[in-house]
Amino acid sequence: MDYKLLTIAGGSTLLYLVLSTLMAILPGIELSAVPPGPGVKDFTLFEQQGRDVFVKEGCAYCHTQQVRPLEIDKIFGRPSAPGDFAYSTPELAGSERTGPDLTNIGERQSSEVWQYMHLYNPRSVTPQSVMPSFPWLFKVVDKAPQDVKPVPVPKAYAPPHGVVVPGPDAQALVAFLLALKQAPLPNSAPAVAVAAASAAKPAQAATITPAADKTPLAFDAANGLKLFAANCAACHGAQGAGVPGVFPPLAGNPVVNAADPTEHITVVLNGLHGKAIDGTTYAAEMPTFAAHLSDAEIADIIGHERTSWGNHAPTITAKDVAAVRAKK
Ligand code: HEC
Ligand code: HEC
Repeated sequence: MDYKLLTIAGGSTLLYLVLSTLMAILPGIELSAVPPGPGVKDFTLFEQQGRDVFVKEGCAYCHTQQVRPLEIDKIFGRPSAPGDFAYSTPELAGSERTGPDLTNIGERQSSEVWQYMHLYNPRSVTPQSVMPSFPWLFKVVDKAPQDVKPVPVPKAYAPPHGVVVPGPDAQALVAFLLALKQAPLPNSAPAVAVAAASAAKPAQAATITPAADKTPLAFDAANGLKLFAANCAACHGAQGAGVPGVFPPLAGNPVVNAADPTEHITVVLNGLHGKAIDGTTYAAEMPTFAAHLSDAEIADIIGHERTSWGNHAPTITAKDVAAVRAKK
């Protein structure tokens, strides 16, 4: 009887030890020994403090930092490579994806203001979010100190009195989030270069057969909707309504509805800051997308904006984007 129990307990303990060594400890040791991939940067001291806040606040319970080589992971970046983790030991790869993967969040959501608003209360930028608020990373003060910009929390989420300013932990955490950027793999040509190369061909063909110019390609509406959701909706809202006083609405926006699309394309390529739109100056800035989106992708997004939420404006093609990009 005792002998039987001992065999079961001993056997299962041994099996547990063998499996955890094979599946977790050895791969972990091997991964930690991989040298950094080309372009993979170490974190600064401040960013490392932010990483500690990330661990302490349990962000990794809901967010992975590993992009799988799967179609559904494409919106998070390129597939992760062993060399990506050289400066992230112990790795925060995570296993639960209640929220999006954060491997490349510094590229995908580069606005510091957005990150602060989202941490203070995720509902202030993503109304349907189930992510918890982290108000204890912030302070509510009567007046922001000279060198600190208050977080432009929308009225519905703002404290009744005073302004919200980020505390030291929030500042470090956001510095860490903005440093999470994937270095391009040497053998994977950036999407932009590939798109530019393929866009160059039809343009050449068009100069030989001018008839091609008269039949502009229709934009891909489904792709435009998907790309807008992944790149723009966090600030401008899925319905193009924006966040009052914080991010401008695109429904009814004059630039979006202008017949000449040059300014619209320029804003998406180069970003925008400090322009008063409809009498409102925005503290946040519109990030640049020139490096992250191909000409065809920008044409699809702009097509979506120009035909949605009551907007009626001519759509554009990848060639129009290429022309504006070339002038830069
Ligand atoms: C209970 C689960 C949960 C926890 C804990 C959590 N998040 Fe989230 N997070 C989510 C969900 C769900 C979303 C998607 C909705 C949204 O944008 O708010 C999200 C979105 C995000 C995004 C935007 C991602 C994108 O692709 O736009 C960032 C950045 C983020 N979280 C950072 C953090 C940080 C930093 C912490 C810790 C301080 C944290 N989260 C803790 C669930 C969580
Ligand atoms: C991090 C938040 C954020 C994201 C993401 C974002 N924008 Fe913006 N966008 C802004 C802000 C802020 C402004 C206003 C900037 C200003 O006036 O200084 C703006 C302005 C605009 C305008 C109006 C320009 C004008 O002159 O009236 C357009 C069009 C636009 N964005 C399109 C896009 C598209 C397309 C995407 C996605 C590819 C996108 N935005 C993603 C924050 C964002």
